[in-house]
Amino acid sequence: MRSSKDRPRTPGRAQADDPVLNIIGNKVALGPIRKDLLGLYQRWINDFEVTRTLDLPMRPFPLEYEEAWYQRVIQSDRDLTFTIYDRQTLRPIGNAGLHQIDYQSRTADFGMAIGEKDFWGRGYGTESTGLVLDYGFGTLGLHNILLQVFSGNSAAIRAYEKAGFRRIGERREARRVNGEIWHILFMDCLPGDRKLAKDGPRPAGAKSQSRRG
Ligand SMILES: CC(C)(COP(=O)(O)OP(=O)(O)OC[C@H]1O[C@@H](n2cnc3c(N)ncnc32)[C@H](O)[C@@H]1OP(=O)(O)O)[C@@H](O)C(=O)NCCC(=O)NCCS
Repeated sequence: MRSSKDRPRTPGRAQADDPVLNIIGNKVALGPIRKDLLGLYQRWINDFEVTRTLDLPMRPFPLEYEEAWYQRVIQSDRDLTFTIYDRQTLRPIGNAGLHQIDYQSRTADFGMAIGEKDFWGRGYGTESTGLVLDYGFGTLGLHNILLQVFSGNSAAIRAYEKAGFRRIGERREARRVNGEIWHILFMDCLPGDRKLAKDGPRPAGAKSQSRRG
């Protein structure tokens, strides 16, 4: 039997028990982090399949750790984290956010985890990344968004490249996971990179839109 949690939604029509949403995409929607979901977030960060590719130690995290993280983030001016929802069912599936936001230099760091593994490989990570970039550049006026990703995390690297991130360097052999040694790759994105990823490259010979010709 389907529960109300996985019923299909009518796009654009909010229901009384719907979560609060800030940004609505095609497959995903983004809303604030929620105290009532701390148990779910805690489950994700205790899943070593999820954390093996995250900048987190692979260790047990009690609920109090998650509660302290929540208090820190909601009071911080420099960090913001979204809950990622499957847009159709409004099931919470992960978190994505911007950290170390610097409004003077217009920079931030990006981070993301999709904790519900049945949603991996279906385009949710790519779209969530793009929505956070659009929010960072468009709404917050940022100019450079940076991330770090392990060389063994091919799905993340591909998703980030599709959203507009470019590789800018690496720290060699700096992450050991289950006996494997990985590099830490640095990737960044400027508004123009994001636009190119969204619009695609201009076809050769296309007329310039610029007044200067
Ligand atoms: C990494 C993560 C965010 C990716 O999200 P996702 O929804 O699975 O990614 P998407 O489906 O949007 O895109 C993945 C892309 O990588 C490709 N891919 C998947 N596994 C791959 C592999 N082993 N090698 C190469 N490409 C791979 C997919 O085919 C897809 O590309 P395509 O659309 O061109 O076919 C998600 O797996 C996750 O949260 N993992 C755990 C936490 C984590 O690693 N977070 C990121 C830390 S930097």
